[in-house]
Amino acid sequence: MCKQKPFVFGMPAANEYFIGREKEVKRLVANFTNGINTILISPRRYGKTSLVKHVAQMVNSAEVKVVYLDAFACRSEYDFYNQLSAAVLQQTSTKIDEWRQTAADFLSRLMPKISFSPDPSQEISLSLGITAKTHTPEAVLALPQQIAEKQNCRIVVCIDEFQQIGEFPDSLTVQKRMRSVWQHQNRVSYCMFGSKKHLMNTMFQNRSYPFFKFGDMLFLESIPAETWVPFLCQQFAKVGKTLPEAIARKICETVGCNSQYVQQLAYLTLLNTDKEATEADFEASVNDLLVENEMLFISQTEKLTTFQLNFLRAIKSGIRKDFGFADVRDEYGLGSASNINRLKSALVERELIDYDIEGYDFADPVMKIWFGRKFF
Ligand SMILES: Nc1ncnc2c1ncn2[C@@H]1O[C@H](COP(=O)(O)OP(=O)(O)O)[C@@H](O)[C@H]1O
Ligand SMILES: [Mg+2]
Repeated sequence: MCKQKPFVFGMPAANEYFIGREKEVKRLVANFTNGINTILISPRRYGKTSLVKHVAQMVNSAEVKVVYLDAFACRSEYDFYNQLSAAVLQQTSTKIDEWRQTAADFLSRLMPKISFSPDPSQEISLSLGITAKTHTPEAVLALPQQIAEKQNCRIVVCIDEFQQIGEFPDSLTVQKRMRSVWQHQNRVSYCMFGSKKHLMNTMFQNRSYPFFKFGDMLFLESIPAETWVPFLCQQFAKVGKTLPEAIARKICETVGCNSQYVQQLAYLTLLNTDKEATEADFEASVNDLLVENEMLFISQTEKLTTFQLNFLRAIKSGIRKDFGFADVRDEYGLGSASNINRLKSALVERELIDYDIEGYDFADPVMKIWFGRKFF
């Protein structure tokens, strides 16, 4: 029996748990080493963070230093500047003294507070205390370029959950400032990624937004079943169990190849399997997955209006585009034609539905199953 866990979810997939993505890895490696800005968009839990961290590890060297930060908790422009500076200072030096000196050189008037985090995976946390009184935005935004010049290297700054910046107060002004500084930094490139597709799309694909055409844009697709199936079977084999290919395929199909759900459903199936996974083990595991997520789904749907619920019902019945037709509106109770756009944007805003060229669908494939069982 192998002691390592067979599946990983809820944290980035790394090392032997990281599968597929050959094309995307190649493209990101090229962009990072050539200093090309990159924008990476996908639904949640497809594998953006895993991908960027994987590539960062491959590229990171004395010549190209890759810095990672997560903007998820940032609520304002200066929150972000503190995160950015702390990440750049820490991740471009190996010793505390070194970044202290760098901070003193380039960001005067700082009173850095260092605390040792209780989380052992993050050795130290750094709060720099940068405010509008101590530093102008331009002075802080200049830091990566200054460090890159001093260390004679290039820097790639990877910003996770970048859509958060679109929610800052006075966000457009902030974005304008960033772009105007970033576009002149010849030693620094940026990789911005996030999952609220409508927000990310607006920020990067709308002409009137500052980051329009800022870099190479990648839409991350799901990892195909052909890649998942051998991996799932092999992970079962590692713990002395068998997963028939047909069931591996079902796991992928059931969750629409959503990376996190594939790993999670495979894990539940493994728990339910005695020696060789059966159809019944698989069905029991789907139930377990629904039960695990039920509270979350209830809280996401309990405040919906009847029209909104009806819209979801229409999607669940297979309607993807024709919501405006009179007979569809009648059959599902969607109200007037002018109501349709409001329904769409309210549900997109809540991240319950998503759209692609095929039309609208549930954003979460497991919620779709749950909704079908609950509301039909
Ligand atoms: N390349 C991959 N190989 C295997 N599993 C993956 C991969 N990418 C993502 N996953 C699975 O999906 C989960 C979510 O991945 P994550 O990178 O956090 O997605 P995102 O940043 O897009 O929300 C991971 O915990 C892991 O279970
Ligand atoms: Mg992520």
